[in-house]
Amino acid sequence: MRIGVLTAGGDAPGLNAAIRGLGQMAFRDGHELIGITNGWAGLATDFAGRPLAPAELIGVVGQGGTLLGTARYDLDNPAGGRDRVLEAIDQNLDALVAIGGDGTQRISHWLAERGAPVVGVPKTLDNDLLGTDYCIGFDTAISIVAESLDRLYTTAASHHRVMVVETMGRATGWVAAMGGLAGGADLIVIPEFPMTMDEIIAHLVKRRSSKNAFSIVVVAEGINLETIGGVESGQLSSEGIGGVRLATRGVGQFVASKIDEHGGFEVRTTVLGHLQRGGSPTAYDRIWATRVGAAAYEAVRAGKFGMIPVVHGSEVDLAPLSSVAHGQRRVPRELYELCAAFF
Ligand code: F6P
Repeated sequence: MRIGVLTAGGDAPGLNAAIRGLGQMAFRDGHELIGITNGWAGLATDFAGRPLAPAELIGVVGQGGTLLGTARYDLDNPAGGRDRVLEAIDQNLDALVAIGGDGTQRISHWLAERGAPVVGVPKTLDNDLLGTDYCIGFDTAISIVAESLDRLYTTAASHHRVMVVETMGRATGWVAAMGGLAGGADLIVIPEFPMTMDEIIAHLVKRRSSKNAFSIVVVAEGINLETIGGVESGQLSSEGIGGVRLATRGVGQFVASKIDEHGGFEVRTTVLGHLQRGGSPTAYDRIWATRVGAAAYEAVRAGKFGMIPVVHGSEVDLAPLSSVAHGQRRVPRELYELCAAFF
């Protein structure tokens, strides 16, 4: 079989481990692995795929980024991207494994519904794909958040400051909540459980009066600006697929400026940004990425198209793409309440 593989959307540490997991299994059974360059763009324009040699997958398990390249590519452009992708799969591949988040899996689902032999693999650093407990890249991201909070803690404590830390998290607060829990955050503000600016300041005032002269406040980049007294601008730069670049909204800086305006606090802001996506994956990300990559091969081998390996507890199961493609998995209340017990 000619098994195509692509990585689409934002990169995440662990993508190479997943490609290797898929590829080694395919090579073992004598199949070809066709690496598609730059996600859907590599199928929607000229076919940008080439056979990967087994040697190209050696030594990549611990490498960040994606050896295939990735892109945020709008398939709903006037040139009719989706139909071209269908055609490219039909003409060049016996199967396609698409590694990506909800945007990618919506396209995978659309293709599979039209008979294309597509299998998904769950990847988003935001960890909010529906139907799976884990997405590639999340563990590395929260490890970086936790380590950053450890570092900010010592300087915050020395200067008795409020440190506002902005994390990634487009629609949900998994990175902020779990990174914050692991790093001992004193307040975590996420889209699922909105707080007003008055509530944020009241919490800081309370901490200060109980002799906690410093605080670390973790804010997910995707929180609603209007809830905290800001204004959503209609002029933010786009990600290229219709969504705005959330980092340009500057929510961390906005929260810090409001705390500053209130008075009585020395405030500093850190935007963790793409540091959360760069560098080597953790061992946990390598292991799970390998497992879901290998499971994607098993699905292809068994002809189970229109499916995606998902993680349930300590197991990998197969789920229909339709079950992950629409909506986000949100941080549940009990988990947020556990975080809040330490505020
Ligand atoms: O969707 C994953 C993600 O990491 C978001 O958390 C973040 O908003 C976005 O990607 C950043 O994307 P880009 O690298 O295109 O700026």
